[in-house]
Amino acid sequence: MRGRFISLEGGEGVGKSTQLRALADALRSRGLEVVETREPGGSPGAEAIRSLLLGGAEDRWGPRAEALLFAAARADHVDKTIRPAVERGAWVLCDRFLDSSLAYQGGAGGLGIAAVLEINRFGIADYLPDRTLLLLHPQGSERARKRDAGESDRIGSRPAAYHQAVDAAFRSIAADEAGRVRPIDASGTPEAVTERLMAAIEDLL
Ligand code: TYD
Repeated sequence: MRGRFISLEGGEGVGKSTQLRALADALRSRGLEVVETREPGGSPGAEAIRSLLLGGAEDRWGPRAEALLFAAARADHVDKTIRPAVERGAWVLCDRFLDSSLAYQGGAGGLGIAAVLEINRFGIADYLPDRTLLLLHPQGSERARKRDAGESDRIGSRPAAYHQAVDAAFRSIAADEAGRVRPIDASGTPEAVTERLMAAIEDLL
């Protein structure tokens, strides 16, 4: 039986990583095999591209090269990790996927969502998540600033206006793709957020 592919999305500091672990535990307690993975990365090749993307000076890559590197990492991640796991029946939970590229490189980075979608469609041959959970938290950026305390990566350290544009792009993608993308209120206790996430995938179980 085919498994499921679920992505978690959102801006910085919305609690994605914590929630991904909690969701994985909840699904395992129902007897499912769960694979936790992340982008950029999730396969040896994509992890190598991750260090190229997140390290170094802000001007290391121009916007187009940056978008192509994310797309290349994603193509390898789907081929080597995600698709094989889903085909053997596992649930794959992925911390960020295509919509991060659409929001960061496409929306905030100025390339446009359509252009970034096109290079990614080529890279992943239209392989999309069964569901995308978009975590929305009004104080996300503030929390990320405190958490990272000046140590954030090439992209996390971009100005507040960039991150506001990321947020706006995520919301517009969710409105356009209401079938696949579910906005989730990420405020309140972690347990309450995990319950909202489970409710948003219940029909896939
Ligand atoms: P990561 O350390 O995983 O950050 P976070 O905890 O915020 O998820 O770093 C990933 C960074 O890369 C993050 O700033 C978002 C950015 N990113 C893109 O710009 N485009 C993409 O397609 C992906 C997957 C991530």
